[in-house]
Amino acid sequence: MSHIFQHRRARHYALVLLLGLFPVSQLIAQELGDHQYTSEAIQAGLRIYSRECALCHGPQGDLVSGINLRRGQFRTAQSDEDLRSVITEGRAQGQMPAFNLREAELSGVIAYIRAGFDPDGVAVRIGNAERGEALFNGRGECSQCHRVNGVGPRTAPDLSSIGVKRTPASLQLNLLDPAAAILPINRPVRIVTRNEETITGRRLNEDTYTVQVIDSQERLRSLIKEELVTYEISELPSKSPTNLNADEVADVVAYLLTLDGQGAAQ
Ligand code: HEC
Ligand code: HEC
Repeated sequence: MSHIFQHRRARHYALVLLLGLFPVSQLIAQELGDHQYTSEAIQAGLRIYSRECALCHGPQGDLVSGINLRRGQFRTAQSDEDLRSVITEGRAQGQMPAFNLREAELSGVIAYIRAGFDPDGVAVRIGNAERGEALFNGRGECSQCHRVNGVGPRTAPDLSSIGVKRTPASLQLNLLDPAAAILPINRPVRIVTRNEETITGRRLNEDTYTVQVIDSQERLRSLIKEELVTYEISELPSKSPTNLNADEVADVVAYLLTLDGQGAAQ
């Protein structure tokens, strides 16, 4: 028994490291509580899946053509709500039958799908992308800093193709705990040059002799390090954790996942 337990812990750690949340892993696991499914739900989902779904969809979730449940490729469904209605109502005149599952079984099987069929994985809730877009441009205040498809300021990273660059888990983490999610290259900088100009901004690139930053006026600046009096890299992220609630975070993550770099006016 204790052997199995240790094995699980080890896998959990490996995943946590991958997501880059190592230093605060325990804290995050608790804090995220209602933003994602529990590991109990995911493991219950594995049992339901094997019993009810594997017959048609296969152990890897890829036996129905055009659908790969493990990779999250569906024909029409996007959000967790969509998955709920597919499972409870059925599809294609009963070729996909309607299931009468208990609530815990239903969310378990969705959690198992969202965790990529990994019973020890992390399943992030994916909400509704349209509501997420409205929150992004409205109450979430994301568009005050971020640019998408040619619209918005350049002071924060452009998110036009963020959906293909990052995992759902890292997008969610960025909203809930920006300090844990920040990439080294994105760290804010404060620079003072020899002629006493102070530049604050975001680092884009750096090599041994030069550093490129976007300053607070959105200008691209390339600076020679030897000519700088001060060059400070902040450990702090430029923003606080979002005030959006768990459902709204799930919606914003759904919207970010649709940003695939194919949008208008790149
Ligand atoms: C009897 C075979 C069968 C079983 C059992 C079955 N499915 Fe399906 N499922 C299908 C078929 C066929 C489709 C494609 C329907 C269509 O043509 O849109 C499908 C489609 C889906 C889709 C994709 C819907 C979309 O919008 O793209 C999901 C998600 C899904 N099934 C989940 C499940 C889950 C979860 C279970 C178990 C609770 C399950 N299925 C059990 C046959 C089955
Ligand atoms: C005050 C400005 C500001 C606001 C508001 C803001 N962000 Fe950010 N965001 C940043 C900056 C700057 C970074 C780069 C990392 C850092 O400095 O913390 C960033 C990083 C990110 C990243 C990671 C980019 C990458 O390359 O991995 C994502 C995703 C993101 N923000 C999404 C959002 C969403 C969604 C919202 C709204 C809920 C939001 N941000 C609100 C400034 C902001």
